[in-house]
Amino acid sequence: MTTRSKRKDEHVKLALAQHEKNNDFDLMRFYHHSFPEINYRDIDLSTHYLGQTFNYPFYINAMTGGSEKTKELNRKFALIAKRYGLMMVLGSQHAALDDKTLEESYRVVRDVNPEGFILGNINPNASVTEAKRAVEMIHANALSIHINPAQELTMDEGDRDFSHWLHRIESINKELDVPVIVKEVGFGMSRYTINQLQKIGIKHIDVSGKGGTNFVTIENTRSEGKRFSYLENWGLSTVESLIEAKPFMNKVEIMASGGIRNPLDVIKALALGAQAVGLSSVFLKMVHDKKEEEMYAEVDQFIDELKRIMLLLGKTNPRELTDTDIIWEGRLKER
Ligand code: FNR
Repeated sequence: MTTRSKRKDEHVKLALAQHEKNNDFDLMRFYHHSFPEINYRDIDLSTHYLGQTFNYPFYINAMTGGSEKTKELNRKFALIAKRYGLMMVLGSQHAALDDKTLEESYRVVRDVNPEGFILGNINPNASVTEAKRAVEMIHANALSIHINPAQELTMDEGDRDFSHWLHRIESINKELDVPVIVKEVGFGMSRYTINQLQKIGIKHIDVSGKGGTNFVTIENTRSEGKRFSYLENWGLSTVESLIEAKPFMNKVEIMASGGIRNPLDVIKALALGAQAVGLSSVFLKMVHDKKEEEMYAEVDQFIDELKRIMLLLGKTNPRELTDTDIIWEGRLKER
């Protein structure tokens, strides 16, 4: 097994070991009204983003590929994406860009779901040619580029030169004929970052903030020395990032991910203005070691709970959710 394949498997193992914790979504509540005045059966969760209409406002966010074990995970994610019509983002394809024998662990997603809306995934060191190869490999409908400086810094083998990242992203965005979405990996985005991306022409952003999977913790555990434990609280939460993103929401399509633990968090992120909401660790736990019927039962339940909360809020479609019904607690109150 290559070093990279080993790292992919370790990421999965360590992400599965991370326990759900409190995060900034707990600082938000909704006003309660006792007469919702709608019927459960009238709720329609369909949502429009990336130029498409999807059945649901949530998607399977970037995770895996690049090893035998992650191929099986990708197959299961693809089965879910197909059954429910969800967008699916692949994990970083660099392993396969460097070693063709690993392509199968990504291609499986297209084989299982030929008509699905699938996003490729690369890092901003990629050249335009590599970006095009990543798209071709899986006939991607769009390409996501992950920016992860905090993770790179805590890895011994990580990048130390970020001076070309924005420029690379700009070139890839210009040269590709599919949409490009730029995402973080759990450290969030500031107004400054979003402005930089908007200025170079990026139209789709996933702020992917702090509050769920924590890659400083994961890399610390991998390196055993736990050298960077003091950085484990680094980053902006998904809630903070969405507040930062608000002034851009009429110009850029903003997606949210990072620390979405349950259907209520999905609804909170939508109420803060996200067009769609990405889940990684929740889906990882839904498919890992599960039989197909078990994972479908979990997704069915997730969707049913989303609808029940919409019912409680008296909203029939996600586009009716706004931040006016939010009650803030604690330090986010003044924002
Ligand atoms: C990730 N994530 C990720 N992101 C990315 O753009 N490329 C990648 O290759 C990976 N790899 C990866 C592996 C594993 C096992 C996990 C759990 C996550 C980051 C992911 O897309 C997301 O941004 C964060 O995980 C935060 O979301 P959750 O997990 O809190 O829902």
